[in-house]
Amino acid sequence: MCGIVGAVAQRNVQGILLEGLKRLEYRGYDSAGMAIRADDGRLQRCRALGKVAALEDKLAAAPLAGHSGIAHTRWATHGRPSEANAHPHQSGERLAVVHNGIIENHEALRDELEAVGYSFASETDTEVVAHLLEREARQGDLLGAVQRVLARLDGAYALGVIHADEPDVVIGARKGSPLVVGVGIEEAFLASDPLALLRVTDRFIYLEEGDVVRLAAGGEITILDAAGTPVTREIQTFEHGDGAASKGEYRHFMLKEIHEQPTVIAAALEGRLGDRNVLVESFGPEAETLFAGVRQIHLVACGTSYHAGLVARYWLERYAGVPVQVEVASEYRYRRVVVPEGTLFVTLSQSGETADTLAALRFARDRDYLGSLAICNVPGSSLVRESDLTLMTRAGPEIGVASTKAFTTQLTALMLLTLALGRLRGQDPDEQAGLVEALRGLPGLVRRVLSLDPAIEALSTAFGEKHHALFLGRGAHFPIALEGALKLKEISYIHAEAYPAGELKHGPLALVDSEMPVISVAPNDELLDKLKSNLQEVRARGGELFVFADAEVGLAEEEGVHVLRLPHVHEALAPILYTLPLQLLSYHVAVLKGTDVDQPRNLAKSVTVE
Ligand code: M6R
Repeated sequence: MCGIVGAVAQRNVQGILLEGLKRLEYRGYDSAGMAIRADDGRLQRCRALGKVAALEDKLAAAPLAGHSGIAHTRWATHGRPSEANAHPHQSGERLAVVHNGIIENHEALRDELEAVGYSFASETDTEVVAHLLEREARQGDLLGAVQRVLARLDGAYALGVIHADEPDVVIGARKGSPLVVGVGIEEAFLASDPLALLRVTDRFIYLEEGDVVRLAAGGEITILDAAGTPVTREIQTFEHGDGAASKGEYRHFMLKEIHEQPTVIAAALEGRLGDRNVLVESFGPEAETLFAGVRQIHLVACGTSYHAGLVARYWLERYAGVPVQVEVASEYRYRRVVVPEGTLFVTLSQSGETADTLAALRFARDRDYLGSLAICNVPGSSLVRESDLTLMTRAGPEIGVASTKAFTTQLTALMLLTLALGRLRGQDPDEQAGLVEALRGLPGLVRRVLSLDPAIEALSTAFGEKHHALFLGRGAHFPIALEGALKLKEISYIHAEAYPAGELKHGPLALVDSEMPVISVAPNDELLDKLKSNLQEVRARGGELFVFADAEVGLAEEEGVHVLRLPHVHEALAPILYTLPLQLLSYHVAVLKGTDVDQPRNLAKSVTVE
């Protein structure tokens, strides 16, 4: 959801800002812009509608130069994508601001500013911040002006600000949207995601809620907390390396991330498995005590992460005997939730910055929960910082907007949670040992499934002209069908729905004809025979079937029935393995249709607004 970069450097900052925007483009990509303070004190600005490449072309024709600047890539919330609505927004010729998030009271502020003579050049909520800052900056320094303006803003934001009268200074602020400071050698940087800055530094300070930071020449970094008190925040070294920010040999980030799954699943397991059981300490030193009191779980997430939660419900109830309620965060946070004694609150999020999930966690903090656990991929994210316990999924940076490796590592982490709780709640030790053994073999099986890619690509050609698709699954594979449908719709724009196969005859069967491809996952589990009957119902109505089936399952290829065989896997881990062909199928269909695979229309990677 929008990306911010800022820099105060000894060199010209245009290249640093542009490189940062390219790396942040996955967060928003309808327009981009930058503002740089020239050494003669002028503010120069360049903005372009469309992708960062359009801005790059404009900058090539008319470069900017200076030692301090801010830049932004936008995902429209207030006001359509246009150059006028692109950031940075200026007030007059002296002040420029970039903003992520939403200013909820922008209408009242706009009325107030118009009444005293400010005129607006955009439809955005951000422009009120520019004018408020311009007015306040006339009363003193920029840092003080930012502090006074923040007190007037409702909503969520990360901000970057420069002023013509303050050479080599960038001010940043965060509340509800992530912002990090990059620590360079006598240089300092600002970004909404460390990935933006990996070319210039691997040392970061993760700002906390309410922090305001002043970056100045010589790498000077001053941080004030929400109360305005100077604070020192820990500098952390980014551990993933810079390779994550490039596509390498792959055509798209999504394909690269799909193929990283054997490695990242192994990373998610590393150091967390004993000989015959899961190490409960993986969840932190307090986990054992907290987990011992767990009587039920409320699991809250959005999108793909929500689907991971739905799978976990089957696992936690079956193997750990814990009742689980799973809910999308945007619904949960506005409900009058009943919290039975001994309930653990679990959030799942790739980014750790999803506004609804974060708000749900904050809502839960005021309820009678036993404690909170975040399963997350981004160390230092808000969700991680604000939860009692955390388990990092270790997927590494995920750039493709469509979540792939984040999902399978979440599932891996959720299986670890299942076994940790199972262990404390008397799960049969042999059953646990069998699952631990199966987990160790999982990266190898994932690799084998990925080797089926050419066959899946061949299947994808059947979808080129289709407008709809139906995904079916049973048990823990119903959420996998949901995830398969989400992947297909978000990157290929084919309308896709998912149903538990047993629901077919209660309505969706009416949609089935030769134009409706039906995709199903058929692992060798206790529901297989029932699933086979459901698939017969589809065939009988002329529906073309695409079935991903266990190698040992007797499902025959015949006219209208395409079967792709997957290696046999422990029943419990099948949802992880069966996700892969669905990811690859969506990917190849999207490539076939020529869509923008990594940056599908209307979406953004990290949804930091409600
Ligand atoms: O960062 P999170 O896991 O909290 O994000 C949640 C959803 O926005 C995300 O999973 C979204 O649904 C993806 N685009 C799915 O591919």
